[in-house]
Amino acid sequence: MSRRLEGRTILVTGAAGAIGSATARRLAREGARLVLADRLTEPLAALADEAAGLSGARPAVTGYDAESPLSSAALVDEALAATGRLDAVCNIAGFYAKAHSSEVSDDDWDRMLQINLASVFTISRQAIPHLAKTRGCVVSTSSLAALEGLAYATAYAVAKAGVIALTKSLAAEYAAAGIRFNAICPGAIRSQMSTVAAVPGADPDLAFRRSRLPGFEGGYGEPSDVAAAFAYLVSDDARYVSGSVLVVDGGQFLL
Ligand SMILES: NC(=O)c1ccc[n+]([C@@H]2O[C@H](COP(=O)([O-])OP(=O)(O)OC[C@H]3O[C@@H](n4cnc5c(N)ncnc54)[C@H](O)[C@@H]3O)[C@@H](O)[C@H]2O)c1
Repeated sequence: MSRRLEGRTILVTGAAGAIGSATARRLAREGARLVLADRLTEPLAALADEAAGLSGARPAVTGYDAESPLSSAALVDEALAATGRLDAVCNIAGFYAKAHSSEVSDDDWDRMLQINLASVFTISRQAIPHLAKTRGCVVSTSSLAALEGLAYATAYAVAKAGVIALTKSLAAEYAAAGIRFNAICPGAIRSQMSTVAAVPGADPDLAFRRSRLPGFEGGYGEPSDVAAAFAYLVSDDARYVSGSVLVVDGGQFLL
C-alpha cells in the first residue's frame, strides 16, 4: 500500500466505532500520524498500539463528548497540543436512534443535531486556523439519509443533510485559503449503528433496495469501503476535489 499520507497529522473522531477505527487503520497504513478521539476511550488504547505499528508514529488519544460544544472545541486544542500540527480532520463520530417522528422530544431532536451536526461545525471551525497553515482539509460523514430521507430518523437525516450544506459552504469560503472540505455519504455499512433495533410498528422492508446488491451479504458494505474514501479525500490525490459529496453505497441510492 502506498505511503501517500507520510508526514500528515490527522484527527479522527468516532475512532472507537466501526468506520472510525477502519479509517484510522487505513490512514495509519498509509503513513499518517493520528489523533484518535471518541466518547469511548477504552477501545482506543488497543487501536493506538495497532496504528503505531502500521504507521511508525504513535497516535495521540483523546476523549471528548460531541454532545458538549465546549468539549468539541477543546478537542482540537488538545490535538494540537499533542502533535503541534494538523493536516486533516475526519469527522466520523455520530449517533443514530430510531423513533416514530411524532414522538420525538425536543431534547432528543436537539441532541441528535448537536452530536451529528453542530459538533462537526465546532470542530471544523476550531481547526480552520491550523488547517490554513498546512493547506489541510476536512472530511465529514454525512449519510444516504441526507439525500433520500430516512423513515423513523428525521432528526438524523436533517443533521446529515446539514453536514452537506456545512461542507459546501466552508469549501466555498475557504477555497482561497487552500483548505478543502468534502463529505462522504455511506450507504448501509456493517457496524453497531446498522443494528439499531426497529421501533414497534416500523415497516421492516424500508431498506429493501440494499438487499438487491449482489456480492454484499445483506446488502451491507464494509467499514473498510468507507475508510478507503476517507484516505483518498485526505490525500493529495484529491487536491482538486473540494465541496464534493462522495456516495459510498454500492449503487443502492440508484436502484
Ligand atoms: N453504519 C452505517 O450504515 C452508516 C451509514 C451512513 C452514515 N454513517 C455514519 O458513519 C459514522 C460512523 O458510524 P459507524 O457506522 O462507524 O457507527 P458506530 O456506532 O460504530 O460508531 C460511531 C462512533 O461515534 C461515537 N460517538 C457517538 N456519540 C458520541 C459523542 N457524543 N461524542 C463522541 N463520540 C461519540 C461512538 O462512541 C462510536 O465510536 C457516523 O457519523 C454515522 O452516522 C453510518
